Amino acid sequence: MSKVERASPPPSAKTVDQMIGEHASIISSQLQAISEAIFPPSASKILRRFTSGEAAKLIGVSDSTLRKMTLAGEGPQPEITSNGRRLYTLSQINELRHRLATSTRGRGSHDILPRRQGDDHLQVIAVTNFKGGSGKTTTSVHLAQYLALHGYRVLAVDLDPQASLSALLGVLPETDVRSNETLYAAIRYDEERRPLSDVVRKTYFYGLDLVPGNLELMEFEHTTPRAMMGGARSGESIFFTRVAKALDEVAEDYDVVVIDCPPQLGYLTLSGLCAATSMVVTVHPQMLDIASMSQFLLMTHDLLAVVRDAGGELRYDFIRYLLTRFEPQDAPQTKVAALLRNLFDDHVMTNPMVKSAAVSDAGLTKQTLYEIGRENLTRSTYDRAMESLDAVNAEIESLIKQAWGRT
Ligand SMILES: Nc1ncnc2c1ncn2[C@@H]1O[C@H](COP(=O)(O)OP(=O)(O)OP(=O)(O)O)[C@@H](O)[C@H]1O
Ligand SMILES: [Mg+2]
Repeated sequence: MSKVERASPPPSAKTVDQMIGEHASIISSQLQAISEAIFPPSASKILRRFTSGEAAKLIGVSDSTLRKMTLAGEGPQPEITSNGRRLYTLSQINELRHRLATSTRGRGSHDILPRRQGDDHLQVIAVTNFKGGSGKTTTSVHLAQYLALHGYRVLAVDLDPQASLSALLGVLPETDVRSNETLYAAIRYDEERRPLSDVVRKTYFYGLDLVPGNLELMEFEHTTPRAMMGGARSGESIFFTRVAKALDEVAEDYDVVVIDCPPQLGYLTLSGLCAATSMVVTVHPQMLDIASMSQFLLMTHDLLAVVRDAGGELRYDFIRYLLTRFEPQDAPQTKVAALLRNLFDDHVMTNPMVKSAAVSDAGLTKQTLYEIGRENLTRSTYDRAMESLDAVNAEIESLIKQAWGRT
């Protein structure tokens, strides 16, 4: 074997921690430069406008209903482009929903404005699996945006110290989130605890708010054992109720909370799972991922049993496995998918999320498929990805509605 030339001095010249520290700062400044080039800090993300066709589809009425409203001067007036297309902002689409829900033009008000009412409980959906890269964040961000587009009031909670969800929603964890501005602020055990409403941020996406994450979330893993040892058995020290209690403080403002879990099962994830009313487990259908999923389920089972024994209440409206990055032409993947369906029946979602360059390409510029606009991608690629994504999200939406007793 030929000897490989070392580009840098051997580790003995510097201590390993010095070297790692240097590499960390090199990467961090490079990332900053790249991100500033793509997305200058002065620019905040702006959500595109939607064509009248898209708006009508989102609201669930015909385009002609909206055209009549424009002609009659009713409701918000769209921007009219030089070629006569009518464009609406998401906020205008919601104004239209409110009008239509109360007017005779609309069908049942539930259909037009699907928010929770009366006794409907806040839906808290944890998107989880400790397998890294199984599509948790991609699923979370698109589900949260889908629900906001369809008129729900949504809170996205970033439970991952790596904070990819925050970044996708326009909040950079290293530069935009300061100390005590993540979920940790609302679940910490000391006197610096803040109400969750203090750290909730509006996003550029109408109807979608965010509790951002960053590395400080790791603190919870360190402070929890101390609180458990020090705090005897007082309610305050019980870690698994902390996320639920924090969410209680803002529950009135939302219909659905989407929690993006980190790829590990620590106190943070467990507290998130205990706050959840439903769970979506993302699974890439490959043998290795299934092996890891089996470990995840075993560990979750053991930990949740401990929580239950300690008096924690765990009742989920639904638990579903979602196939992610699925390639229907790939024989081994279809076999694994079939195996899962065989084993878990209805617990596997009918619609898989297909693998698509549209999703990963959009992700490169910290965008989602819902933001990117059909004109920016090959149409067939965009349409195929969007069809799969909408089907997945509609399936979850119908589970939410079932939990509220609607059919
Ligand atoms: N349907 C898809 N088609 C193509 N690429 C996808 C798809 N879903 C996810 N990806 C890509 O796969 C990678 C991992 O996805 P994602 O970040 O959602 O996984 P994750 O489970 O949140 O990862 P982690 O465990 O690190 O938090 C990302 O680069 C994402 O763009
Ligand atoms: Mg993630």
